[in-house]
Amino acid sequence: MTAASAFSLLLALLLLPAAAPARAASVSLPALPLSTSSRWVVGADGRRVKLACANWASHLEPAAAEGLARRAVGDIAARVAAMGFNCVRLTWPTYLATNATLASLPLRWSLERLGMLESVAGVRVNNPALLEMPLIDVFREVVSALASKDIMVILDNQMTTPGWCCSKTDGNGFFGDKYFDPDEWLKGLSAMAKIFKNTENVVGMSLRNELRGPNQNISLWYRYIDIKAFLLM
Ligand SMILES: *[C@@H]1O[C@H](CO)[C@@H](O)[C@H](O)[C@H]1NC(C)=O
Ligand SMILES: *[C@@H]1O[C@H](CO)[C@@H](O)[C@H](O)[C@H]1NC(C)=O
Repeated sequence: MTAASAFSLLLALLLLPAAAPARAASVSLPALPLSTSSRWVVGADGRRVKLACANWASHLEPAAAEGLARRAVGDIAARVAAMGFNCVRLTWPTYLATNATLASLPLRWSLERLGMLESVAGVRVNNPALLEMPLIDVFREVVSALASKDIMVILDNQMTTPGWCCSKTDGNGFFGDKYFDPDEWLKGLSAMAKIFKNTENVVGMSLRNELRGPNQNISLWYRYIDIKAFLLM
């Protein structure tokens, strides 16, 4: 799948429920931060919180959230809330956090280098303020648009290299694979955690999508999951 077709396919998925009757957004943030109590996720007030998360991909080749060429970021956030979600699982590639060249690439350049000129034109119409913005700031703007609709965000580390997930042979599958250097991964998690440390609606991180592939190994799995738990505490 080309980046361009993935971009519009995911957008289509995101916008598909548009035919459903729009309800007024009735989301409000629970008392934060969240924690666990036995098997439950609870708010700071001890009340149970049920997460209803939509997926919003921001880990594909452009390293920017899908759909920005089609609708204003605030409108997409409003639509997510109107569909009844109180949370978004926002995906990101490790390099967005660890590769300064990528992070500082303006959205327009990122789309242009992939030949996505229609998307450039679409972003210019629908999100003009984001067009010349560095990718890492575009990512922040998405989080901020969701915050303004009281939607919680779980930052989801999907891949190291920006691109479609998941294949068993894409070098992103397991600790030690070509593009899955555990130190780089921890650096990325740590950098993302720092960026959003004081951002109230960012309630959690999912640490890596779908460990997979021929190099899976239980002892390495435990080793890195432990380090990471320690790092994020
Ligand atoms: C960092 O990102 C830039 C822009 O995408 C890319 O050209 C470069 O190869 C990346 N560096 C590494 C070490 O992956
Ligand atoms: C898992 O990886 C460790 C460290 O590289 C190695 O010592 C061990 O033999 C591997 N185990 C399996 C089952 O491959």
